[in-house]
Amino acid sequence: MNTVRVLQVCAEIFPLLKTGGLADVAGALPAALAAEGARVRVLLPGFPAILAGLEGSTELARLAPPGAMAAAGPRLLFGHLPACGVDAYVIDAPAFYARDGGPYADAHQQPYPDNHLRFALLGWAAAQLAGGLDAGWVPDVVHGHDWHAGLAPAYLRAEAERRGQALAPSLFTVHNLAYQGIFEAAHFAELDLPAHFFAMHGVEFHGRLNFMKAGLYYADRISTVSPSYAREIQHHDQGCGLDGLLRSRAHELEGILNGVDAAVWNPAVDPLLPAPFSADDPAGKAKCKSALQRELGLTRAAGTPLFCVVSRLTEQKGLHLILEALPRLVEQGAQFALLGSGDPALEAAFRAAAEANPAAVAVRIGYDEPFAHRLIAASDVIMVPSHYEPCGLTQLYGLAYGALPLVRRVGGLADTVADARLETLDGDATGFVFEPFTAEALEATIRRALALYRRRGDWKLVRQRGMRQNFGWDVAASRYMALYGILAPHSAP
Ligand code: ADP
Ligand code: GLC
Repeated sequence: MNTVRVLQVCAEIFPLLKTGGLADVAGALPAALAAEGARVRVLLPGFPAILAGLEGSTELARLAPPGAMAAAGPRLLFGHLPACGVDAYVIDAPAFYARDGGPYADAHQQPYPDNHLRFALLGWAAAQLAGGLDAGWVPDVVHGHDWHAGLAPAYLRAEAERRGQALAPSLFTVHNLAYQGIFEAAHFAELDLPAHFFAMHGVEFHGRLNFMKAGLYYADRISTVSPSYAREIQHHDQGCGLDGLLRSRAHELEGILNGVDAAVWNPAVDPLLPAPFSADDPAGKAKCKSALQRELGLTRAAGTPLFCVVSRLTEQKGLHLILEALPRLVEQGAQFALLGSGDPALEAAFRAAAEANPAAVAVRIGYDEPFAHRLIAASDVIMVPSHYEPCGLTQLYGLAYGALPLVRRVGGLADTVADARLETLDGDATGFVFEPFTAEALEATIRRALALYRRRGDWKLVRQRGMRQNFGWDVAASRYMALYGILAPHSAP
């Protein structure tokens, strides 16, 4: 068994701090890798929620990062995160991380002006650990996630150049190429990276500094969260300006599909649901639906199909298509419920739709983990009409909870949902898939979903097949283990 030591570097982790699917992945991956034999530790910024979850912590070192990062007086703590079941290094630097607002932006959604320093420190600390800062535990592989950890591979390379000796190899995983961590060139000097790193073959991007590019350029291997997205980001329309670099590294890039953490998302044992249910015993799902209709003030009717959305309200998710299609959905006798927050214009538009028709449309603006479970359990269909989607987790939760996913054929959605057509009903159908990014295409697919809903036997067949799909983390974990094995062959006994 491969007992590789892996340092996972990320900015959020479920259940302590979450803004999206990245946290779900960061929270589930350590245990899945440990089950394969890996010894995993995570490195996180000391956001208040992370520090509050850290038990038995000791100060490992007072950090002496370069330049302006030192002013934050960072200390490296080591302890255990019981909620995540993993040992963690946490950078305690209140001046950087203890702020009102979110981890990346203030309460008005404005990115913090010193984000380049806040997350450079994360990458710098990863390189220090690889360099032996904790003599009792030196990672064999550094595995960074998204732009927040993008400088880890760059600092690893810089440190190796300085010492004339390679440190741990790195894997960099892209969860969303659209968020890159781009900063003015003047900030490069504050990072204390070698001057030649500020180049096209390096961290420079159209005259500015790009953390995502740093990860993509300096990591030894790159992965992303679905096979389709791995292909899509090598093309101009989804490459966000980095497709050329990704094409040049195509042979070192692979797509590994995310999984579902069955300890969190399993309707048979989910304590957040009013009634449990499963593929073999789906009766409890009707109770979940009726309880939710009551909770939201929707007409209580068991036979009325309920469509839902659980989402960040951003352009990525294609929700304006749903706003356009909503009147037709309701005209055809269906109900719609949304949980989400984000773009104020989208929030207002969905609120207005609910006010116009409260018996059939319900909207809850905000972030509410338990309600997300209740809503998905209650729904017949979960809609994810994304413009792009690196993997997407809510469609997987929908499959597990008997809410048939209605998705656009893009990224991880295309890799996880099989369209229900007459000829696939007895085959692999698990949901509804459409392609053109238009309200007409969405409406047509809603009509197909409603037609199937009326054919109760076929509906139950497709639903049961979806619920029986196995999107466990074990598959992804063994793929990551294979990559670690390539990167650090000596670590396997
Ligand atoms: P993304 O990471 O792009 O937001 P994913 O589908 O990968 O998309 O992950 C989204 C995660 O965030 C899921 O766990 C989903 O349930 C959760 N989520 C999104 N919006 C909300 C919300 N308003 N309340 C609770 N959970 C939410
Ligand atoms: C990103 C993507 C989403 C993916 C998640 C976890 O937030 O938008 O598609 O599921 O990361 O990898």
